[in-house]
Amino acid sequence: MSRPTVFVARSIPEEALSILREYLDVDMWPDEDVNPPREEIIKHIEGKVGVLTLLTDKMDAEVMDAAPNLKIISNYAVGYDNIDIKAATERDILVTNTPEVLTETVADLAFALILAAARGIVKYDAIIRRREWKGAWKPMLFLGSDVYEKTLGIIGLGRIGAAVAKRARGFNMRILYSDVVRRKELERELEVEYTSLEELLRSSDYVSVHVPLMKDTHHLIGAKELDLMRSTAFLFNTSRGPVVDEQALYKALKEGKIAGAGLDVFEVEPIPDDNPLIGLDNMVLVPHIGSASRETRINMGLLAANALVDFLVKKRAPKYMVNPEVLDRHGIKRED
Ligand code: GLV
Ligand code: GLV
Repeated sequence: MSRPTVFVARSIPEEALSILREYLDVDMWPDEDVNPPREEIIKHIEGKVGVLTLLTDKMDAEVMDAAPNLKIISNYAVGYDNIDIKAATERDILVTNTPEVLTETVADLAFALILAAARGIVKYDAIIRRREWKGAWKPMLFLGSDVYEKTLGIIGLGRIGAAVAKRARGFNMRILYSDVVRRKELERELEVEYTSLEELLRSSDYVSVHVPLMKDTHHLIGAKELDLMRSTAFLFNTSRGPVVDEQALYKALKEGKIAGAGLDVFEVEPIPDDNPLIGLDNMVLVPHIGSASRETRINMGLLAANALVDFLVKKRAPKYMVNPEVLDRHGIKRED
């Protein structure tokens, strides 16, 4: 019997690939360093029943229509802003993602950015490497800001936001959060206080963004929001670049309206050489590494591979689904 064929849009960890190869015929994009361009995705998914995508692979209606047999898109990421979910659902295409396994890893990075920016870890490291640490130790040299007992504002108290709050408890921080829904149980469990976004921005020393990218969250943090922040406050984004208006952020940092920032994600990735944020020393920049621990990237790969095998071969519900309502139309029951 012929096996279902899937397109894998990037080379993935061996552990995940071997699961796919055990059950499926795999057409894998061969280039490690270059994303498959749109035309190549369209070409490769023709005739495939499944595709494993990365967050850089845009899956819109036109791409989906190039593969009339497509039944499942397995996204190697928790975020799925690269996929038109409505278009997928209309075409009975199941979309899966990889939450939970990366929650703690991303929260670690969010906290690392907070500590690094607050204490100038990156800029002071650079001073040593430039052989510029010359003067004697003195009380008011190389100063930063405390994190311990300060106020942290978490925008979006989902899994990752809550994991950041847990870390902040250990630093005895006051924790505020804003969200589209109130999470009363978490408020008690994590001792976090619900506020409006405006109040959070006005009252926090550190603001960390943990919302998905959607129409409503595009430029959620812009000039008006940055204006509300304290001149001593810091902004962090480990979610998706377009949630923060980079031009407005650059201006706020340049003019000292806020003290600093830490970004893992950018409006355009990889970050263009002429992005002015690169020239600012009151910011910490890392190249979209939120989930990039070895263990977590393997675990995400296993989830993404198993979603394809579960759905296409074992005819059962994958562990995490974005549009589970599609399952019925394939005669598969949701397990709990
Ligand atoms: C990474 O950015 C993800 O969404 O998993
Ligand atoms: C991310 O925010 C998640 O819910 O896992």
